[in-house]
Amino acid sequence: MQIIEDPKQLRNEIKKLKSQGHEIGFVPTMGNLHQGHLTLVKKAQEYANISVVSIFVNPLQFNNANDLANYPKTLTEDCRKLKEAGVDIVFTPSADVIYPNGLNAQTFVEVPVISDRLEGELRPGHFRGVSTIVAKLFNLVQPDLACFGKKDFQQLAVIQQMVIDLAMPIEIIPVDTVREESGLAMSSRNGKLTAQEKQIAPNLASVMTELAHNIKADLRNYKQFIKDASQILDQAGFKTDKIHVVEPNTLTPLNANSKQAVVLMAAFLGETRLIDNLVIDL
Ligand code: PAJ
Repeated sequence: MQIIEDPKQLRNEIKKLKSQGHEIGFVPTMGNLHQGHLTLVKKAQEYANISVVSIFVNPLQFNNANDLANYPKTLTEDCRKLKEAGVDIVFTPSADVIYPNGLNAQTFVEVPVISDRLEGELRPGHFRGVSTIVAKLFNLVQPDLACFGKKDFQQLAVIQQMVIDLAMPIEIIPVDTVREESGLAMSSRNGKLTAQEKQIAPNLASVMTELAHNIKADLRNYKQFIKDASQILDQAGFKTDKIHVVEPNTLTPLNANSKQAVVLMAAFLGETRLIDNLVIDL
């Protein structure tokens, strides 16, 4: 496994591999890797014979300087896991190389409308930061395909839209959310939970499943079911932030003709904000 920090070196390596007829599968990450990330890697390896993983904590997508400063950095351990997973290249650029003029760059990639809804309303600029870095990483890695987790449902929707709108020749492969046995969606943020919070955390997934079940049974009452779910979470020890039930493709409100819905959950456990989602057929 090669660990490459320099974009020029990466370009040369990718050029060489492509000239030999290899296909490149890419998994962008911010490190602190868990089984969810490694499942994306496995998927990339199923579809392409060369796998590239980037590890870059992207300052442009953080709304809060503290969050950025406290983001867990575990590069040695991450590289060990990636080597064991049979990854070919780990790309670990520095912030100086990615943003040579700091965060006041002149060019951004923005996917309006879809980026401004839901999470975007709570985290202004977040998805612009995501689409900009992913576009930049795509230019550097030049992958044939890239894997993204459904865990970050809106992020996946933004990237899919960006690739269509900018005619990027990259196949986006969505990967199902990987969960703990308890049902809790794996996340780097789970590491911040106290022992007591860890006990409570799986309720987010079970309340979400129950909510999805109720909506399927009686769509007209979905707003009431959302209120109930929020109350149940609060009683369990969460502070519910947002629960949305919307059309999965457009992230717009449901209507009588909706065929599918996505239930999007966000709740605080102490200081930690957990998210989860579930798509249902109506
Ligand atoms: P990060 O949070 O490190 O996640 C990297 C990828 O792993 C994303 O596609 C995310 O959806 C996926 N992922 C995380 N937890 C998962 C789980 N439990 N099951 C399945 N997939 C999971 O998302 C980012 O980084 C950044 O925004 C990034 C795209 C790298 C841009 O900076």
